[in-house]
Amino acid sequence: MKRTHHCGQLRGSDVGKPVSLIGWIDSIRDHGGILFIDLRDREGLTQVKANPHSDDSNFNDAVNRLKDESVIEISGTVVARDAVNVNAALPTGEIEVDIDALVTHNISETPPFPIDDVEGDRVHEDLRLKYRYLDLRRGKMRKMLKMRHETTRSIRNFMDEEGFYDVETPTLFKSTPEGAREYLVPSRIQPGHFYALPQSPQQYKQMLMVSGVERYYQIARCYRDEDLRADRQMEFTQLDIELSFIDREDMYALVEGLMKRVWKDTLGVDIPTPFRRIPFQEAMDRYGVDKPDTRFGLEISDFSETFASSSFKVFAATVQNGGVVKAFKAPTLADVTQGELKNLEEVAKSLGAKGLAFIKIESGEWKSPIVKFFSDEEKAALQETLQLEEGDIVFFAASAWEQACAILGRIRIECAELLKKRGKLEIPADRFDFLWVVDFPLMTYEEEHGRYVASHHPFTAPVADDFELLDSDPKRVRGQHYDLVLNGVELGGGSIRIHQSDVQKKIFEDVLNIPADVVESRFGYMLEAFKYGAPPHGGIAFGLDRLVMILCGMASIREVIAFPKTQKGQCLMTESPSPVTDKQLKELHIETSILEE
Ligand code: AMO
Ligand code: AMP
Repeated sequence: MKRTHHCGQLRGSDVGKPVSLIGWIDSIRDHGGILFIDLRDREGLTQVKANPHSDDSNFNDAVNRLKDESVIEISGTVVARDAVNVNAALPTGEIEVDIDALVTHNISETPPFPIDDVEGDRVHEDLRLKYRYLDLRRGKMRKMLKMRHETTRSIRNFMDEEGFYDVETPTLFKSTPEGAREYLVPSRIQPGHFYALPQSPQQYKQMLMVSGVERYYQIARCYRDEDLRADRQMEFTQLDIELSFIDREDMYALVEGLMKRVWKDTLGVDIPTPFRRIPFQEAMDRYGVDKPDTRFGLEISDFSETFASSSFKVFAATVQNGGVVKAFKAPTLADVTQGELKNLEEVAKSLGAKGLAFIKIESGEWKSPIVKFFSDEEKAALQETLQLEEGDIVFFAASAWEQACAILGRIRIECAELLKKRGKLEIPADRFDFLWVVDFPLMTYEEEHGRYVASHHPFTAPVADDFELLDSDPKRVRGQHYDLVLNGVELGGGSIRIHQSDVQKKIFEDVLNIPADVVESRFGYMLEAFKYGAPPHGGIAFGLDRLVMILCGMASIREVIAFPKTQKGQCLMTESPSPVTDKQLKELHIETSILEE
């Protein structure tokens, strides 16, 4: 089986050459006994032509049996197409190949859906996932796989040039139940003991720094038993990085160089550096999230002072109880329909809002169920800050700060979608708003459990200036943590780490309140390692799936993973997860009984 060319390769200059091609039948057209076949392989399409052979009934029979998606090998001669038949849309459109000989490798049954970019997209995703091997034959999916390959190649080249070692770390790890829920793997050799699949190579990469590797990277598989979403899979890939002897500025410069390189190599786009930096507090205040999409305005303002003693009791009481009143204006969106408004309210309520107060500016008037409670000063303050004009709508949230941010953050995104739908907001496909979110609090207080939890993870170093606040006012301690955000997606996050055993122990035990024996059993080895010459170090990890999703202009990471899981955590092609036999379980010293929820 030797092909001379791939199916995207032949040009007018090849006319007269004997060639052989191999591939899938994209389509067959019968023009009065002469068959025109579009033959497809990974690289493209070539039209090949089968004239009936007057002296060879085997050939004619074979040709007549062909169906779409069958795999054939042909040899023949490249001929020029007549001027009228030239297909300018196809790189091989100047020529076709006259078939002399045909080998049929596999006749395809009729596929369950068309192998076609446009029609394939209309097919239910479950069907595409069940027949993923067919779905991946479609042009846009092939392009995606190529983009993913080019992305990792670009990353590997860059990391190599920057002096990083690619080191693999185990995927059978130890259970350290902090953060997301883990996948457990029972041990056969150690009855009753379990491995956990790593949520990330975090602890191993820090150990590699203690080992003296200095610069580590890995394209690593990570596992988190979380609820799946468009940008979340249970099994996903990180570009994981760790370096010794660096500070935050070194990290920003390295990552900016990396992103610049990847965008240049894959899209040919020059992205400007350095990236903008936004403190966490400002991101929350202005955009309502810690991963702001800055490709459009709709920025949020605070009106707590304005309404502190308002006659609108909902607002005044919220402020008096330590909460905030926030609002933003969606320009020209006063034409929001009842249905859309209802939907926005549902979204707000799903985030714990009691309601979603609004004001529409219509026919020169402020129309709203609440505006009758507002004083002239309150209205003037709104006008002053929001610069309201005819056709605008303002949305309010009155709640605890985090909740008010979360509510308006979501409503802001929803409003952007509504504006897009109306053609009033256009975001160019090649707009890439990279930014660093910095100055996160090291810890956040969980009301529910009455304790502090690490905002990023417990290995993040506090900002040196804030160190003494650790005992007196932990929530004011900033962490040396940074997130890279692109177009409203959290692309990556990392931090400068703690590298002193006593500091790490203090964070675990005194600040996060993890009992000493639990610290010892989970992290004892780490605390010990840090006593043997641990270098200052820091790192970051990127969601590779999210990165490729944005490079491909897709809306879900499932579109850029060869074999993703569904929302319910299933692989529909292999039908996993699946039951196992009692014998298998017995070998693992396990008995199952499914407990009712
Ligand atoms: P973090 O938990 O922020 O950090 O993860 C880093 C990046 O991984 C991506 N990501 C995901 N992608 C798809 N599906 C998921 N379920 C999922 N969860 C996370 C995101 C995220 O920004 N060890 C630390 C990094 C460090 O400190 O160096 C870590 O894992 O893009
Ligand atoms: P009420 O006086 O409770 O009927 O509320 C008047 C308006 O304010 C309604 O449109 C509610 O949806 C809205 N609203 C009530 N509570 C809040 C809140 N905490 N934040 C924002 N809007 C609210």
